[in-house]
Amino acid sequence: MKVDCIVIGAGAAGLMCAATAGYRGRSVAVLDHANKVGKKILMSGGGRCNFTNFSVDATNYLSRNPHFCKSALSRYRPQDFIELVDRHGINYHEKTKGQLFCDHKSSDILQMLLTECDYAGVEISTHCTVVKIEQEQGDGGFRLRTSLGDYRCQSLVVATGGLSIPTMGATGFGYEVAGQFGIQCLPRWASLVPFTITDKWQPVISALAGVSLDVVAGVGDQQFSDPLLFTHRGLSGPAMLQISNYWQPGAPLTIDFLPGHNLAALITEWRSSGQKGELKTLLSAILPKRFVQAWLEQSVGSRQVQQYSDAELDILQSQFHRWTITPSGTEGYRTAEVTMGGVNTDEVSSKTFEAKKVPGLYFVGEVLDVTGWLGGYNFQWAWASGFCAGQYV
Ligand code: FDA
Repeated sequence: MKVDCIVIGAGAAGLMCAATAGYRGRSVAVLDHANKVGKKILMSGGGRCNFTNFSVDATNYLSRNPHFCKSALSRYRPQDFIELVDRHGINYHEKTKGQLFCDHKSSDILQMLLTECDYAGVEISTHCTVVKIEQEQGDGGFRLRTSLGDYRCQSLVVATGGLSIPTMGATGFGYEVAGQFGIQCLPRWASLVPFTITDKWQPVISALAGVSLDVVAGVGDQQFSDPLLFTHRGLSGPAMLQISNYWQPGAPLTIDFLPGHNLAALITEWRSSGQKGELKTLLSAILPKRFVQAWLEQSVGSRQVQQYSDAELDILQSQFHRWTITPSGTEGYRTAEVTMGGVNTDEVSSKTFEAKKVPGLYFVGEVLDVTGWLGGYNFQWAWASGFCAGQYV
């Protein structure tokens, strides 16, 4: 089969790229090895797909070259995707911090992309294993040997995503293709991922599994104000996932469990107003009871507020406002939302997404070394990079 363009990977970026190229009149085939297309779209946002964010700019992304993403993000903005969603009559709402979720289900977004591909005349094949890619001599282009037969194309788009959730079809195929053509890949690791804790805090944390509270979490200069969730194995919740993008093994996290308050000042106030209760009772009005109990047990214990010394107030202050923990690691690709690192963006044009060394070969989406924050930023990158490449493939 001969087409103008083949897209490997029927995920967010691949489907967007295919539809855009199809609308330009290009003949496009999308090949995916999985049994179903768009699996990560379906499982995203707890089944409601956090498909974009009202406010997106380059500061929401990590990449060795922080400028690379700017061009595509400015050429395809959240508003462009929202207009598409509106045209398809999909209802959505803002949950928090500009994050837009479907009212109904993630499948609305996948169905929208498939409808767009259909209108644009794109052919999509699942259960397709790409066995070999060869560059054609003469006119250029590529020849693909696949489990569904041979394909030839002028433009080849690699949209195979990252390594997270292998059970959903994630593979390192995109990095292998880059390697085959001498294109550099940067080291990769799981990100937007929960932390594991194995030190003395493990039993305390495990006993709190299921407790969630608003915190300010920091690593180095980076801070996020979001909920934290204790788990049987460590720390999760949006605050931890966000911080994981900036964490390096061995680095300590600092957590403020009472943001917007000053515990020492509160205790002083309670004392001077003659409050008689135990500290755990007073604190349980502003923090989850189980957490208060455990945190006091690990520091100075709970007594009448009047009975704490100044030295103990200092201990409480650091225990609740500047708790430091060094994770033993992360839960890895099994549960990570994204892969940090990937195809070095220096190897790719930020305008066309074509590999500088290999005319006709394009990389879009998560396979590139561009990783967004939690909150719809990774899909916006998939849409933007897919759309921009779709103008040229
Ligand atoms: P994507 O992973 O979507 O697609 C890659 C495609 O390539 C897949 O269809 C795969 O089967 C196929 N493929 C892989 N190897 C292949 C091979 N060898 N041959 C053929 N095909 C192959 N982001 C966000 O912005 N908001 C959110 O709500 C969420 N939620 C979320 C939840 C969970 C659980 C996860 C794991 C991830 C998220 N994300 C997210 C991240 C988001 O899903 C991710 O960044 C995008 O899907 C990346 O889009 P891509 O198209 O690059 O890859």
